[in-house]
Amino acid sequence: EITKEFTQGLPKAELHVHIEGTLEPELKLKLAKRNHVNIGQSTIEEVRQSYQYDDLASFLAVYYPAMNVLQTEQDFYDLAMDYLHRAVKNNVRHVEIFFDPQAHMSRGISFKTVIDGLYKATVDARALNIDARLIMCFLRDFSRDSARETLEEALNYKDKILGVGLDSDEHNNPPMKFFNQFTKASAEGFHLTAHADIDQKDSIEHIRELLEVIGVERVDHGTNVVEDPDLVNFAAKNKIGFTSCPLSNSFVSPEMKGKEVLELLKKGVKVSIHSDDPAYFGGYIGDNYYAIATKFNLTRDQVITLARNSFETSWISDEQKALYL
Ligand code: HPA
Ligand code: ZN
Repeated sequence: EITKEFTQGLPKAELHVHIEGTLEPELKLKLAKRNHVNIGQSTIEEVRQSYQYDDLASFLAVYYPAMNVLQTEQDFYDLAMDYLHRAVKNNVRHVEIFFDPQAHMSRGISFKTVIDGLYKATVDARALNIDARLIMCFLRDFSRDSARETLEEALNYKDKILGVGLDSDEHNNPPMKFFNQFTKASAEGFHLTAHADIDQKDSIEHIRELLEVIGVERVDHGTNVVEDPDLVNFAAKNKIGFTSCPLSNSFVSPEMKGKEVLELLKKGVKVSIHSDDPAYFGGYIGDNYYAIATKFNLTRDQVITLARNSFETSWISDEQKALYL
């Protein structure tokens, strides 16, 4: 009943996509050549063969080294424009794009290089009829000091960054490690979100910290919340967004958390569907809707609710929201 044309054409907001995770093998090789960076692969087949992972850590071990090809402002601009063209084909009307400044600063690229390239792409996106914003993520396996310095940098570009998030290796890196930086970011007017990757050790405790102590507006992935009825109630009542990424999940969990997404929908929780790292997980946002809709026999209404939830839990203004809802 649900077709690819339907899931691709459905108007949607994309709230969980890492710009570094949109680096397609073609662009990776092109940038490697342009910047004389040896990535150990020279054909698209070789790049694809290197994409072997079955958990978060093994994915991140492939993902971060590949970023070496990103060197100049132009590289970040090209990366983001490539993604934005694909988003337009998926009828994404509004996108809040994650970026990881520490993954670049730690290898000698300035914050300015990263933000200038990405921001210019978001400005040029307006001509493509897509509203693009940026969310800066802290790397949770880096130190608190590093997060503090990163937030200080970000304050110089406050008007170019909509919110802050938290990503990378969750193991033994609970949200509370960054309590001070989240508090400071919120006081500076940034929106807050954070990853709670699926099936992590201490998943529920991490989600509890995010919702009850730090006060994030969304949780990225976070579908393990269904295991805790109190937190599910809290999330429904407070309209917390949960950004699930079926194809990303399918690398670590064959059921791609479809049952949990359905359960959350049933409980009135604002769960929605996104692509995470589309160049690494085999599909853009329309493909992610299609994957979960076909595997779990979703109705048209359920798919539309998922898309509505994406606009509702986005950080666009209420006037802008009214155009979509
Ligand atoms: N989880 C944690 N870190 C990440 C992810 C993710 O799904 N994608 C890119 N960085
Ligand atoms: Zn993610």
